[in-house]
This record gives sequence, structure tokens and C-alpha cells, in this order.
Amino acid sequence: MYISYPSRFETYGAVKIYELSKVYSLFAIGAEWKPGLYNILDFKELGKIAEKTVIVVPSKNEDPMVLEGVLKAIPVYSPIILVSASTQAPLNMFSVEKDIAKTLYRVTGRPTIIVHQRDPVIAEELGQHIPGILDEDGLVRYGKGEGMLLSVLLADGMSAENVGFIDADNYIPGAVLEYALTYYTALNMSESEYKMVRLSWGYKAWSSTELYFRRTGRASAIVNTVLNKILSLRRKAETDIVKTSNSGEHAMSIKLAKEMTFAGGYAVETQELVSLLETCYVGVGEGLCPALPGSIEIYQVETRNPHVHSEKGESHIIEMIIESLSTIYHSKIVDDKGRALIIDTLMDLSYEGEPPPPLRYSIPSLNSKDFLDKVLGESKASVAYGV
Ligand code: GDD
Repeated sequence: MYISYPSRFETYGAVKIYELSKVYSLFAIGAEWKPGLYNILDFKELGKIAEKTVIVVPSKNEDPMVLEGVLKAIPVYSPIILVSASTQAPLNMFSVEKDIAKTLYRVTGRPTIIVHQRDPVIAEELGQHIPGILDEDGLVRYGKGEGMLLSVLLADGMSAENVGFIDADNYIPGAVLEYALTYYTALNMSESEYKMVRLSWGYKAWSSTELYFRRTGRASAIVNTVLNKILSLRRKAETDIVKTSNSGEHAMSIKLAKEMTFAGGYAVETQELVSLLETCYVGVGEGLCPALPGSIEIYQVETRNPHVHSEKGESHIIEMIIESLSTIYHSKIVDDKGRALIIDTLMDLSYEGEPPPPLRYSIPSLNSKDFLDKVLGESKASVAYGV
């Protein structure tokens, strides 16, 4: 794949945010070097980075046919973690997901782990380190962010170097393949150990309506604008560098993932950026930034396949916006002017007052190999193949 080298970046303390790169060719492994473009040199190099990158698929009651397409599209070299929050009764959607993954394992032999977020063994282990992640039932809370945090620990337990996330409701398997290839390419391009690549979909559409290809997602359009404005106010120069505040499809080094504070639910992607800006920009003088004296590299890439996913309604979008803005509102990167902007933005969406603070969780310093062994050894729900 050829992606363009970003021709500029902006620095916020030790955080480098690169301008949006574009995909110039979906497949160019081994093709000749071109100025201004980056490509993985050969299949050996591709295989090496893919093997070190675990792909996590969070799933909550998605269409099994769509999930199957997603799993089949992830290159066989990458191990998979399917982290599910699907129903187990009366209809056992989780068991259907397990069967899909097991069937694929039988034909591909690729390492695959399938865990249920509400597994009591996981709750017992995680609850000791992050009590706030448990709900009133004593199980890990529902939420995409909670599932992601849990899978970072499992990926670390598998000794992965990188972790990438791909939603289970992607209707176009070819898009999923492009996401994985983009992760490998951009992670390979980065020179930092603390690296991240966030995808911006070239076009998106919903499966439930007549296809209409939009250039921007509704949540991203609002949250990008607010985050850019907050950064502009801080550095006293306008910026529009952030194009991926809500990027669900993104990948990073495990080293970086372990330094971030995750948020619950759909606040997670914005919180990642906020957390890095808190420690490595606003708080860089406090010596808390792990990347020093180096820097954190955040790449943003616009992918070419249209992103077609399931439509979950207007209120779902509004909820995502409120959750995402709350991470900025309740952070160290914002001042009174910025907070007023967030209140105004929320008012335009007919939401009055301050957004509630997000649930935030640091990655616990537990032995992730022991955690993985315990989950796979003791759980009745979670299974692993080829691990
Ligand atoms: N494990 C787990 N636990 N997975 C979940 C949960 C949960 O509680 N809730 C949702 N998921 C899964 C879904 O099944 C899907 O595969 C993925 O997480 C994303 O959830 P959606 O509900 O489909 O989100 P969306 O498509 O509206 O929003 C996506 O794009 C946004 C940017 O536009 C998500 O990736 C957002 O996180 C992202 O900000």
C-alpha cells in the first residue's frame, strides 16, 4: 500500500500530531520507492509487523454475517481478540460469535481469543486493580472503552507489540483489510516507540438507508471542531490538525496504550488524545510524559473504501458527542473559554448544562501474562485457539 508521507506535523509538548495522510494505492507491497509515499518493502516485512499486531474486534450483538466478514478480512498473520458484550440468554449470541471464530480457526489456524466482557473471572481479576470498572452486579461494565481496555491487557499478555481496533459492524470486508494494511504501514513508518495511527474514513454510509456517501461523520465533525478550538486557544494560533477525535478504527503500540487513561463507552477515543495531551503537553513540565526525551507520534490516515456500518439512530450519535465532549470538558487541557464553548455546543444539540464526568481508567500495572493465563485457564466462557 502506498500512503503519503505527511508533509507536516504540529507539536504539542511531546505530542506530534501529523496532518492527514492519504492512501494512494491499496496494494503496492514491494513496489518501487516513490518520493513522498511510504510503502512496506516486501512480504516478509509485512508479515513481521502483522504478526506483532493483535487486532481487537469489539462486538455487541452485531449481525453474525457481518462479523464473519470482518474476521475473514483481517490478514491471517495477525492474532485476533474478539471481545464480546453480546447477550448469552435467552438467545446466545456470544455462542454464535464463538462458533464463527472457532470455524475460522479450523481453516486458518490463526491464534484467536474470544472473551466475554461480563465474564466473572475477568471481573475478579480486574476489579482488584480497577474497582471502578465493575458495576452493581460486580461485573465489568458494558461499554466499548471497557472492552478495549481489557483487550489491551490480553494483547500485552500475548506479548504483542501493537494493538489495533476494528468494529464488528463493518459491512465491507475490503474496508477492514484496508484498515489492517494501513495500521501495519503507518506503524512501520513511525520512528517512535510511542506511536498511534487513527483512521479517517474517506466516505461513510449506513447499511439501513439508501446509500449516500458522506465525507464526515456527525460526531467527528463536532468533536474535531471543539478539540481544534481548544488547542487553538491554548497555543494562540488556529489549528485544524485533529481529524480523528472519534476514530474507532485505530491502532497503537502497546507501550503507548499502557501509558494512557481509557474512558468508558464511546468516550474512549477522544479520551486517548486528551490523556496524551494532559501528560505530554499541558503536564510535560511535570515529568510525567513517558516518551521523553522522545515524542509520541500520532498519524492520521484517510482510507479509501467507504465505511458502511449499521445505523444506530440519532440519539446514539448525540450520546457519543456528549460522552466525547465530557472528556475534554473535565480535563486539564481546557480553560473557562473552552468550557463555555463546550456548553454552547451541547446547547445546540438541546443538551443543557455541564456534561457528566466520564468514567476513566488507567491501565493497571498487573502481570498481563498471568492475567491472560488466569482468564484462559479458569473461565468457562472465554476460549482461545492456537494461543
Ligand atoms: N465489547 C464491547 N462492549 N463492544 C461494544 C460495546 C460494549 O459494551 N458496545 C458497542 N460495542 C461494539 C459494537 O458492537 C461495534 O462493533 C463497535 O463496538 C462500535 O460500536 P457502535 O455502536 O457500532 O458504534 P458506532 O458505529 O456508532 O460508532 C463508531 O464510530 C465512532 C466514530 O464515528 C465507534 O467506533 C465509536 O467508538 C466511534 O467514536
